[in-house]
Amino acid sequence: MATDLEGITQAPGALPIVGHLFPLLRDPLRFLNTLPAHGDLVQIRLGPQTAVVVCRPELVQEVLLHDRMYDKGGPIIERIGNALGNGLASCPHSAHRRQRRSLQPAFSRTCLREYAAIMSQQIDTLAISWSDGQTVDVAAQMYDFASDTIARTLFTAEAAGPAVDTVKECLPEIFRGIYQQAVLPPSLSRLPIPPNLRYERARNRAWAAVSKTISLYRQDDETHGDVLSMLLKTQDDAGGSLGDAEIHAQIMTLLVAGIESTAVALTWALHLLCQNSDVQERLRTETVKVLGTRTATWDDLPQLDLARRVITETLRLYPPGWILTRTTSTEARLADAVIPPETTLIYSPYLIHHDERFNPRPDCFDPDRWLPEQQHVRGAFIPFGGGARKCIGESYAMTLATLALSTIVSQWRFSRVGHQLPHIEPRMTLTPHGVQVRAECLQGTHADGTVTG
Ligand code: HEM
Repeated sequence: MATDLEGITQAPGALPIVGHLFPLLRDPLRFLNTLPAHGDLVQIRLGPQTAVVVCRPELVQEVLLHDRMYDKGGPIIERIGNALGNGLASCPHSAHRRQRRSLQPAFSRTCLREYAAIMSQQIDTLAISWSDGQTVDVAAQMYDFASDTIARTLFTAEAAGPAVDTVKECLPEIFRGIYQQAVLPPSLSRLPIPPNLRYERARNRAWAAVSKTISLYRQDDETHGDVLSMLLKTQDDAGGSLGDAEIHAQIMTLLVAGIESTAVALTWALHLLCQNSDVQERLRTETVKVLGTRTATWDDLPQLDLARRVITETLRLYPPGWILTRTTSTEARLADAVIPPETTLIYSPYLIHHDERFNPRPDCFDPDRWLPEQQHVRGAFIPFGGGARKCIGESYAMTLATLALSTIVSQWRFSRVGHQLPHIEPRMTLTPHGVQVRAECLQGTHADGTVTG
């Protein structure tokens, strides 16, 4: 798609050849937030390609609900497909229903309850890992925590340990590479320059580690009660079992889609609690009342109401999946515009969440806006997307984040170190860097052997 689309305003500032590449690489959030001023649909240019940004909640819903017409596609999805194989997050509509059916049982309530037990163990390990007064690099710790927890629910067998470590090491480079490659013109993304080479190397190492784990599972014939064992037992519509390539793609997809988004959400939540100490104290009162000195479990979830609202508000302010794409499979009519086939459409939870027409006081952290009596504009809160392609891990992520945040806030008080705001690196997720907090021990047994509370 190279040409201008009739009737759709073009965002100002496009340069010859590169289009809007610089603001998209340098300060994409500010750039996105300027777009609604130009219309409900706005054209931007990624090098020679044109993409249409959808700027109103009801139009985003229309795109999400018509998943055959607005199919998965666009540069980010193509790069995800290259990196991970044709898994659930990037497969086209034609393969989606079947793939979703094969993965859905792994996200049932019964399975979630079992995963919650693994989550609580991992949270326990995290909550005793700090010493009183320690400065914690929150982003790094939450990344380790989310990757260990998610990898352990995907594959529990001891033998998978080295693969988990390799994948954990490679994922940050894969995330960075996918975003860079998606916004760079294809000619640049194929050059053998260091960032491209680092990305290729990381992708190949992670790929090999997951392949090895699949063959180990196939060899030992034992069922481990985890997602990989379930996929190995799954029958497709014709009664055959899933091939290695498909299982590989699904495992990589779950790792990539699950780990960073959940880690990023928890990092932002702790940052926001440090900036809003009154909310942190209220949350502590709630969690100490419910948990005392123990780790939160599945059965506590209904009582951890404020923790859930803190996570929800964090996902509104900093939605980890901030830019997502679709491609029109046929000519489409959206608002008053006629959009030709194979046009890339972009929807951005960040843009919608920060538009004051749809979320009043958009920059204000206010978990109480999620109290049941509050009214919301339909479709104006979309951190997990919507329609048939809505996040399959939504309940998993909300469970993990709520249990983790409640437990650690009941045992530790966090305060900011320094006054610098985190630096945001927009890659596939909105990743914060430099969230350093001081952890003050309130109760429990901790890494330095102290017992408080
Ligand atoms: C706070 C954490 C999370 C956020 C904000 C998030 C966000 C999203 C969003 C926005 C989508 C839709 C993408 C689109 O419309 O193109 C999505 C899809 C998906 N997510 Fe998540 N996600 C999170 C956690 C997880 C976890 C924990 C898993 C799995 C362990 C997961 C697995 C997936 C998969 C497989 C899809 C593709 C679903 C489909 O196309 O049917 N996500 N996620």
